[in-house]
Amino acid sequence: MSQTSSPPLIDSFGRVHTSLRLSVTDRCNIRCFYCMPEKGAEFVPKDNILSFEEIYRLAQLLVEQGGVRDIRITGGEPLVRQQVPRLIEMLTGIEKLEDLSLTTNGMLLAEHAQALHEAGLQRLNISLDTLDKEVFKKITRRDGLEKTLQGIEAAIKCGFESVKLNTLAIKGVTESEVAELVRYALDRNVMLRFIEFMPLDTDRAWQHSQVFTGDQLLQTLHDEFKSVVPLSRPEPSQPAEEFQVAQGRVGIIRSVTAPFCDACNRIRITADGAVRNCLFATNEFPLRDLMRAGASDEDLMSAIRACLAKKAKAHGIDKDGFQPPDRPMYAIGG
Ligand code: 5AD
Ligand code: SF4
Repeated sequence: MSQTSSPPLIDSFGRVHTSLRLSVTDRCNIRCFYCMPEKGAEFVPKDNILSFEEIYRLAQLLVEQGGVRDIRITGGEPLVRQQVPRLIEMLTGIEKLEDLSLTTNGMLLAEHAQALHEAGLQRLNISLDTLDKEVFKKITRRDGLEKTLQGIEAAIKCGFESVKLNTLAIKGVTESEVAELVRYALDRNVMLRFIEFMPLDTDRAWQHSQVFTGDQLLQTLHDEFKSVVPLSRPEPSQPAEEFQVAQGRVGIIRSVTAPFCDACNRIRITADGAVRNCLFATNEFPLRDLMRAGASDEDLMSAIRACLAKKAKAHGIDKDGFQPPDRPMYAIGG
C-alpha cells in the first residue's frame, strides 16, 4: 500500500478533516420522534451494509492516508448490529488511530458495555432525554427507560476513559427536566450535554420554534443552580461549550443557534458505504459498489477527496431556503 506523503483531507475552505463518524447500521430498537418515523421505517437491505472487513478497509485508509485521528461509531443504534466488539478490536489495531468512541441509546449497554471496554473502546456517549418513564415512551414510542438507566450504570462501572450523556434540547419536552437531568449526571460524575434539536427527523415536522435554545437553557441553569461559569473550550472543533455547574460540568451544543461549521473536522461514512461531507449534505459519494468492483485504495481516496471538495461552508439551518438532507438521521449516523 502506498503511504508516502499523502496530503490531509482538506476542503475548499481549508478545513482539515481528522474525525470520522462511522455508521454501522441504520436500524434501531426505538423510534425517537426527532429521528425516526413511528411506523414504516425503511432500512437498507443487509447485503448493502458494509461488512466489518469493508468498514475496516475504509477506516484504515482514512487514518493512514487521510490523516484521520479519531473515529466515532454510530447508527441507527450501533449495538443492534451483532459483534460490534469484534469491529472495535479490529479498529484498535490501526496504529495511528488516537481515539475510538461510540454513540448509543444505552438500551443494550447492560449486556455489552464490558465487552466493548475489553475490546478497546475508549469513550461512550449515551443519549438520555428524560428520566420520566412516560416521557421516554412519548419520545421513543417504546418502553425502555429502565434498560437505558441500567445501561448507563453498567457503562460507568466499566471504567471507560469517558462516559457522557447527550440530551436533546426540545421545547415542551426538556425545560421541566433540566435540573433533574443535570443532578442525575453530577451525582454520577459524568458530563451531560444538551444538544439543540436539529431538522433531522424523518417526519420533517421540525420547527425552529421547537428548539430549546442554548440561551434559554443557560437561563434555566442559572435559575436552578446558583453558579454557572463558562469554561474555555479545549479545541475549536469540539462543538460543546462547557460550564461549571455545582461540582461538575455541563455542556451545551448550539447546533442551530451557533453552528460550529467553521471549525468542522468531520467526515462521515454511512452504513451502506457512502461518504458524506456533512450531516446536512445534499449529495454523497457511494463507495461500496466501487469497493466491491475492485477499486484500488487510490480510487477510493480520490472519491473521498472529491466528496470533501464539495463540502459547503455551513449548513444554514437558520437561513431561509434551508433544505433538510435527503436521508434522515438514522440513515446518516449522528
Ligand atoms: N437533532 C439533534 N440531534 C439528534 N440526534 C438524533 N436526532 C437528532 C436531531 N434531530 C442525536 C441524538 C443522539 C445521537 C445519536 O444523535 O440525541 O445523541
Ligand atoms: Fe434510534 Fe438514536 Fe434515532 Fe433514537 S436517535 S431512533 S435511538 S437512532
